[in-house]
Amino acid sequence: MLTWCMEDWKISSKRRLFMLPGPSEPYPEILDKLQNRVLPHYGPDWDKAFSRVREDLKKVFQTKGGIILYPGSGEAATHMVVANMVKPGDQVITLTNGFFGDYINMAVEAFGGKSILVRESFGKAMDPEKVRKVAVKEKDAKAICVVHVETSSGVENPIREIAEIAEETGKACIVDAIASLGGSELRMDNWNIDICLGYASKALGSIHVLSPIAVSKEIWDSIEEKSQYMTPFFIDFSAWKHMRWGGTHPVTMPTMNVLALGEAVKIALREGLRNRFRRHDVAGKAMREGVRAMGLGVLPEEEDAAGTITAVKVPTGAENRIRNLMMEKFNIMMGASLGGLVQGKETYGKGELVRIGHMGLVASPEYIVPTLAALEQVLPEAGFDVKGSGVEAALEVFKQQPKEWINGLMSRLMVR
Ligand SMILES: Cc1ncc(COP(=O)(O)O)c(C=O)c1O
Repeated sequence: MLTWCMEDWKISSKRRLFMLPGPSEPYPEILDKLQNRVLPHYGPDWDKAFSRVREDLKKVFQTKGGIILYPGSGEAATHMVVANMVKPGDQVITLTNGFFGDYINMAVEAFGGKSILVRESFGKAMDPEKVRKVAVKEKDAKAICVVHVETSSGVENPIREIAEIAEETGKACIVDAIASLGGSELRMDNWNIDICLGYASKALGSIHVLSPIAVSKEIWDSIEEKSQYMTPFFIDFSAWKHMRWGGTHPVTMPTMNVLALGEAVKIALREGLRNRFRRHDVAGKAMREGVRAMGLGVLPEEEDAAGTITAVKVPTGAENRIRNLMMEKFNIMMGASLGGLVQGKETYGKGELVRIGHMGLVASPEYIVPTLAALEQVLPEAGFDVKGSGVEAALEVFKQQPKEWINGLMSRLMVR
């Protein structure tokens, strides 16, 4: 059936492995879920499933607040958050050290906010001291917006410290955890995060396009029913709390995506969040050690590097050659650099980075080791002289883990 569809649409039916910064490789259990009959977005079955997914998501965000399941891409959900949190003329401190920080900044300005931009160099984590100085000085600023894992560079920003600064200086903290939720430690209530955006098809390993948005209990409880919703009404938080269209949502929901995400969340909770964060941290370290052993560079310094994605520095011009060879010879997909214009100059490593995602399912030796083995094979063809064995370096990282970690991983694989 699927093959027929693929042929019909002239899409290659080749199995591809997504070592991508999104979409991530979906769990097979989730794909099974999609073979079920389609559920309508009303009726008792849907109501039960929808509430269960939202309750389980609270555990992943670690919040007692409210969950909106926005049926759109990460950027669409970011716009929704900004539309509700920023009024025209509001001052907002926006932190950026890459492509997605710039995106939030654009969203703030699009909704009439006055952005106070704090910029860090590409590939470097935001410096909390620099943020503190601006937050203390800008007394009227209402919020601080920050990206947790900057997917364009593989940098993890110090969210806990930044949220603390927001709390101390009386500002809301808005976090884009699209590339980290379910893979990097994030405790929404404990760290005083007010709004947090996640995504179905990054570290949670479901399918795109669905974006959970967590709203702190304080803000959620204050959202009142309105007689006149914001235009367009489907981006109004109030509509998502009070309007009923089947479950509490104001528009038709992609029920199968929601069920798929529900399955992904169950998998994450079964594994345990601590185990999961650990697994991503180890996967990231193994990937970085692996590429360094081959003689390639990693963009961020070790202390700034994320567990869900690695931005590998490659010789100028070799980026697409490497990615194409990985695809042609091994069916492994890796991400390109994103580029972007900062002050009129092309930057963000355009043409010089290969971004390897190790999110959800693939953050394990089972996928990292073959990916490195394949990379070792294609690099010489792309004109790069491989210095040493990436596979051995990565295995060394995995071998250093305690026996319980390996056992945990094995039992997870056995369950599948
Ligand atoms: C950190 C981050 N924020 C925002 C986005 C935008 O999401 P989308 O492309 O789904 O609109 C992405 C996409 O990769 C992302 O990684």
